[in-house]
Amino acid sequence: MQTVTVSASIQYDVIIGSGARKLLAEKIKARFGTPRVCVVSDDRVAALHLAALKDDLRQAEVDCVSYVFPHGEQSKTPETLFDLLAFLAQARLSRKDVLVALGGGVTGDLGGLASALYMRGMHLVQMPTSLLAMVDSSVGGKTAVDLPEGKNLAGVFRQPDLVLCDTDYLATLSEEDFRDGMAEVIKYGVIGDEALFDRVKNGVPRAQMTDVITRCVEMKRDVVNEDEFDTGRRALLNFGHTLGHAIEAGSAFSLSHGKAVAVGMVRIAALAEQTGFCFVPCREEIAAALLQNGLPTDCAFSNAALYEAVTADKKCAGGSITLVLPRRIGVCETKTMPVEELKELLQ
Ligand code: GLY
Repeated sequence: MQTVTVSASIQYDVIIGSGARKLLAEKIKARFGTPRVCVVSDDRVAALHLAALKDDLRQAEVDCVSYVFPHGEQSKTPETLFDLLAFLAQARLSRKDVLVALGGGVTGDLGGLASALYMRGMHLVQMPTSLLAMVDSSVGGKTAVDLPEGKNLAGVFRQPDLVLCDTDYLATLSEEDFRDGMAEVIKYGVIGDEALFDRVKNGVPRAQMTDVITRCVEMKRDVVNEDEFDTGRRALLNFGHTLGHAIEAGSAFSLSHGKAVAVGMVRIAALAEQTGFCFVPCREEIAAALLQNGLPTDCAFSNAALYEAVTADKKCAGGSITLVLPRRIGVCETKTMPVEELKELLQ
């Protein structure tokens, strides 16, 4: 088991490895005494993992309730959030109690935000079950729900008290969900670690992911420690995401987040090459790694269509946009430009 300690506005451990879930009761008791626990998960994750987790808690004499919502981004809404808050109130939980978010990115976002709002803040443990949540969304404290006007528009920064990242959960992930997570892993390699990129570019068996996840979490820790509130360096984590979000939205979310980010990384690397921003051309290398990991490298949207979608995104504030561009594999930099300049570049 590996431990990475994040030192943001609060300090917390991310414990990574096989069997990490078994530490939940012990860690909660050591840190918070004898709180009650509400486990939040979607119906798919609940069917696989909820009963076992509740059994563990009950055996350790931790009182536990659970809230299960329908899986998918369509549940990441103010309606589900308020339904969860009402559930916490009806179950008479207090701010001394613990919300455990057991699941992927949607669960982490929803549970994280509910934990920040309920009684102005209760304790939070993130237990990611998807690769994407393990390497990205469970660490760093971004929580949000979507509004009809766009994704992630209502949220707060709310660091968890603990992250238990049990790599055994990867065994039940669909191939598609695992690949989606690998897109984020490849992203980490491109933005800051060539050795990681080389390690994962031909694929990694699921059972050998602990070190890879740990390295990604270490990189995320470094970024979050320096820029918790996303005013500077944290933007690096958005490599491939600016165009990726536009591709995802343009496909009416029929293309998964990971696939859309994969295509976004290739398109933005092409742009970096065309403009001479790259010291060493890397588009082909990124595309090859994505293909080896079962991810797409292109999609049907033209650059012109992407420009329209990008400028409709909330991140395109004040007429300027920040792009993350590769210099070479392992080194990326941000570049803020007027949106008109992006239009010219994409043309
Ligand atoms: N997922 C990007 C970030 O946490 O900043």
